[in-house]
Amino acid sequence: MPREVRDVVFVDGVRTPFGKAGGMYAHTRADDLVIRCIRELLRRNPQLPPDRVEEVAIAATTQIGDQGLTIGRTAALLAGLPKTVPGFSIDRMCAGAMTAVTTVASGIAMGAYDVAIAGGVEHMGRHPMGEGVDPNPRIVAEKLVDPSALVMGSTAENLHDRVPHITKQRTDAFALASQQKTAKAYANGKLQGDLVSVAIRDPETGWGLAGVDEAPRDTSLEKLATLKTPFRPHGKVTAGNAAGLNDGATASLLADEATARELGLPVAMRLVSYGYVGVEPEVMGVGPIPSTEKALRIAGLSIDDIGLFELNEAFAVQVLAFLDHFGIADDDPRVNPWGGAIAIGHPLASSGVRLMTQLARQFAEHPEVRYGLTAMCIGIGMGGTVIWENPHWTASAQEGGDK
Ligand SMILES: CC(C)(COP(=O)(O)OP(=O)(O)OC[C@H]1O[C@@H](n2cnc3c(N)ncnc32)[C@H](O)[C@@H]1OP(=O)(O)O)[C@@H](O)C(=O)NCCC(=O)NCCS
Repeated sequence: MPREVRDVVFVDGVRTPFGKAGGMYAHTRADDLVIRCIRELLRRNPQLPPDRVEEVAIAATTQIGDQGLTIGRTAALLAGLPKTVPGFSIDRMCAGAMTAVTTVASGIAMGAYDVAIAGGVEHMGRHPMGEGVDPNPRIVAEKLVDPSALVMGSTAENLHDRVPHITKQRTDAFALASQQKTAKAYANGKLQGDLVSVAIRDPETGWGLAGVDEAPRDTSLEKLATLKTPFRPHGKVTAGNAAGLNDGATASLLADEATARELGLPVAMRLVSYGYVGVEPEVMGVGPIPSTEKALRIAGLSIDDIGLFELNEAFAVQVLAFLDHFGIADDDPRVNPWGGAIAIGHPLASSGVRLMTQLARQFAEHPEVRYGLTAMCIGIGMGGTVIWENPHWTASAQEGGDK
């Protein structure tokens, strides 16, 4: 049967404010964070009849307890979507939500459904990294990977060994810039538009409202230089130049472009290509380099065509390794203009959609930019990259701008 691949668009994305693990969401269920995001997507897009949503993919790295029970299905039901709407769960560790997006986008492209929701959640307070895992002893016994590959901070120290020209001072300066860019973005009201506030209840203090991210902090190069290096004595990775341990959820609405136009849904970004690759697990942070090369190759683009980058800041060293590889300066204004995970937080499987939501907002502000990309490193040695086209792009705006 002849079949055409359809154009897929990112309609809208939202997220809860990200909390510190054990912080403002200590008494809030992970699935309630997802439900809040799905309901907000429906509220913000009233032209979308809920029964036109035909799939819900929600990622979580730890799929037990309140993140288990096929959370894509249960969260959809609890959010009030019709019982006829199916759902499923996804796990690709840090790239869970990114994989949820590319998976449902592929389903839309091949015509399996027209509109889908994709997102992710990680409540690292309720589900600490590695909870319940039982790695096959062969992984280490047969030296398939070095044991350090299972501790993400250690993989970042390993990466430092491979790229000695990336100094601790440079990673700290990058981390400080992330905090400063996020503070500026908050001050200018850039981040608030995609935050959905969450009612939280503390047994001692009662009800409250989570309205902003909990992790960003005022810091300085002097303070960052004094922090401990928990993953290696005299190492380089600290709580200041790494993403923290966080709680949060994201959700996005994707659609076939023709359906989006039929329903009057906004088109925030158009999917161009995506790529995932495996790399050595011991240095998982390099993953976004080959995944970006792959996504660019598939799209027929070069790195110079990319006008905006949303790179997940799992660790400053791995972002800097990416930038060095592609010849991009540490302070290039195209990169993470509103800061990144070092400041905002990285609730593992939710973060991919945060990158996309921020890129979508930036596209609207930059009609001179035609293409942008979202990329992240992934545990056990992988990278993921998604390239997007700006629907607001105009050739005349580009002539007056950079890209
Ligand atoms: C690095 C890590 C171990 C730190 O955890 P933690 O010790 O609970 O972190 P904290 O927030 O308590 O910070 C530790 C200390 O540094 C301080 N600190 C953290 N960030 C700081 C900053 N930007 N500026 C100044 N001080 C900072 C804290 O105040 C704290 O100080 P204290 O010990 O005097 O209280 C943890 O965040 C981690 O594992 N991060 C990586 C997560 C990860 O692997 N994600 C997956 C990526 S693939």
